[in-house]
Amino acid sequence: MQPLSKVLPPSAATTPEGHLSIGGCDVVALAEEYGTPLVIYDGGLLRDTMRRYVQAFRAHDPHTEVIYASKAFWAQALLRMAHEEGLRMDVASGGELFMALHAGFPADKIVMHGNAKDAKEIGEALDALVGLVVVDSLDEIALLDQLAGERGRTQDVLVRVTPGVKPSTHKYISTGQLDSKFGFSLEGGLAADAVAACRAAANINLMGLHCHIGSQIFELGAYPAAAHLLAQFVKEQGGDDLAIMDMGGGLGIAYTRDDDPPSVEEFADVVMDAVHAEWDAAGLPRPRVMVEPGRSVVGRAGLTVYRVTGTKDIPGVRRYAAVDGGMSDLMRPMLYGATYEALLPERPDAEASQSLRLVGKHCESGDVLIQEADLPEVGRGDLVCLPATGAYGVAMASNYNGVTRPAVVFVDQGKATLAVRRETYADLVARDL
Ligand code: LLP
Repeated sequence: MQPLSKVLPPSAATTPEGHLSIGGCDVVALAEEYGTPLVIYDGGLLRDTMRRYVQAFRAHDPHTEVIYASKAFWAQALLRMAHEEGLRMDVASGGELFMALHAGFPADKIVMHGNAKDAKEIGEALDALVGLVVVDSLDEIALLDQLAGERGRTQDVLVRVTPGVKPSTHKYISTGQLDSKFGFSLEGGLAADAVAACRAAANINLMGLHCHIGSQIFELGAYPAAAHLLAQFVKEQGGDDLAIMDMGGGLGIAYTRDDDPPSVEEFADVVMDAVHAEWDAAGLPRPRVMVEPGRSVVGRAGLTVYRVTGTKDIPGVRRYAAVDGGMSDLMRPMLYGATYEALLPERPDAEASQSLRLVGKHCESGDVLIQEADLPEVGRGDLVCLPATGAYGVAMASNYNGVTRPAVVFVDQGKATLAVRRETYADLVARDL
């Protein structure tokens, strides 16, 4: 288990019977009680990470706000925890807004995102009295102005800027470059047009800028590069209505033993020092900084346990092991070529003796969880666990092939609490008329 310590929660341990335990709970017992596939979150680690985020950023400036990007994982239990820990909430659609409000999140702490908000969603945000709307297009600014006016109120907004910085990450999760469906580019003057449109709108109150350069970022140098361009832009635009600078999310996590992501504290130091240095150098008053992490809050705290349904050997080719889940609960390998580690919860310390292809149960050849998984002997009925599936795992789950979505359980100090029940066959037909 030692080589996997970077991808497992720090609470990972071996029980006296030699099983994997997380948060003081035996993973084999959890799989028996709740069934598989099962997504297990270390509740203590979730809370700790939220606290570390708030402390690390507020150490630089007590007014800094940490906004959790709920798209990474949105169970009600998690949203309630984020509120208890003093985070704000990023929602990217009417549905995410509903889930945050349903969890009791105060509307004024909610930041409404989305590159294609429709009138219904904008109306929902206005009616809920969300704290900030991040505007993403000129059409949206006009519509928001109109809908706010109809309600006789003004809405605080941030303008989403794409600074033209390209972080080193997968192209599907890179968002800060010029050619992007998100936001307003600095280049070509789109961002300046957006600021002007907000200033001219009677029912919009411009509060600042937003910038999310991408996701799963290890090289933090892209943040100072973005901060430099943003400070220049704020200077050009003048005015004291650009007082908030939301620097987005993006900090990466370790998916494999070879990954070495920066810590939350290093991320906070780089972002805060860069913003302060750039705003100081431009002779501007320091902004109120916000950050919007998703993956790095929940990723390492979650792991998925599957049961092996069978193995096969193709002579001279390879061995396959199939499990009872796959692309319906973990899209990332298929969508981004993402890599994961695997271990056996029944014998986490056993030496790997073979390399096999770990595949899911879906009718797609591409439904491969791990191309080359190094594992001990494994056969039908064994449990296999993939660490670091806490972000964008169940959040992107589907019902492809009529596969029901997994249960989610939180563990902490030896206690397990079911957070999301397993989907049932009845759920599969519940919407059909
Ligand atoms: N803020 C905005 C505006 C975003 O679009 C995102 C992520 C975040 C914050 C949070 O970024 P994070 O800290 O999680 O990197 N499904 C992909 C990731 C998509 C990220 C989308 N936006 C994946 O599984 O890698």
